Amino acid sequence: SEMNTYPVWIDCDIGVDDAIAIMAAHALPQIDLLGISTTCGNASQENTYRNAHRLNGLLGTDYPVYRGAASPLCRELLTASHFHGNDGLGDVDLPVPPDAVYRVEAAWDALYEAAVKYPHELRLIALGPLTNVATAFSKYPDLPELLHSMLIMGGAAVGGNVTPAAEVNIYCDPEAAELVFDSGVHIVMCGLDVTLKALLRPADWDELAATGTRAGKFVRDCVQCAWQFSQKFGLEGVAMHDSCPVLYLAHPELFRAEEAGVKIETRSTLTLGKTVTDLYSDKQFDEKNATVVLDVDRDRFIEILKDCIKAI
Ligand code: RIB
Ligand code: CA
Repeated sequence: SEMNTYPVWIDCDIGVDDAIAIMAAHALPQIDLLGISTTCGNASQENTYRNAHRLNGLLGTDYPVYRGAASPLCRELLTASHFHGNDGLGDVDLPVPPDAVYRVEAAWDALYEAAVKYPHELRLIALGPLTNVATAFSKYPDLPELLHSMLIMGGAAVGGNVTPAAEVNIYCDPEAAELVFDSGVHIVMCGLDVTLKALLRPADWDELAATGTRAGKFVRDCVQCAWQFSQKFGLEGVAMHDSCPVLYLAHPELFRAEEAGVKIETRSTLTLGKTVTDLYSDKQFDEKNATVVLDVDRDRFIEILKDCIKAI
């Protein structure tokens, strides 16, 4: 069958699992990665921006990288060094390439330019808080319609990882998420429902390191901090949260998803940042603005992810 190739933009808060997701996007033939924009989230804007350049160095690529928000729209920044290390990449030794290009254009302007170049074709993959995307949608009201769609790691139909009701990408900037989910763009939402099933296990990263490639050894090294943290919660591996939207775009057959209405809680203290879905309720929202991904064939997902890393 004819393979599709999609023009893609990735907005992220690199982060360990963001980095592995970008390596997968780089390796997958279905994805034509046009650019990377960085937001604060797992780490400061300083660190997430530097990490994007460090990743270009590891991959030997020069994906254009653009700086975005240094703080959420209207709240204090909440970072996650316990999972991603102090530098956001597991505190591994990975240099910034000396020929890194520091572009002055802001993330939201570069994203809009890419969408104009690929009208109704560009897939926007968002792997961190939605601050940059909300800023772009506010500045360019025609952007939601210009995009083909968005695929995000964020939210959860049930549960949370920063409170029992909220996942951190949404919790970090709920006002941004509300603006994006109400914008009219169609969103494939990979929440914790599916991402906590996408676990990379010690045998997997040992296998990758044993290939002897820099990419394989980097994956093993950069997940160790997250592994120490994940073990405390009885997880049998490190969740490849951000690889889920990337692999969904290239291999939707690995997943189970349902169309749903999704709205964001921005007022409550108890449920701030909750992605409220109508999946399990008689009362339905008016709009089905999201495809909520709920399940994945974990073994096939991890096999494809490992093949991506081995191909680098
Ligand atoms: O809740 C998991 C999400 O938060 C992932 O995107 C991870 O990178 C962090 O940003
Ligand atoms: Ca992320």
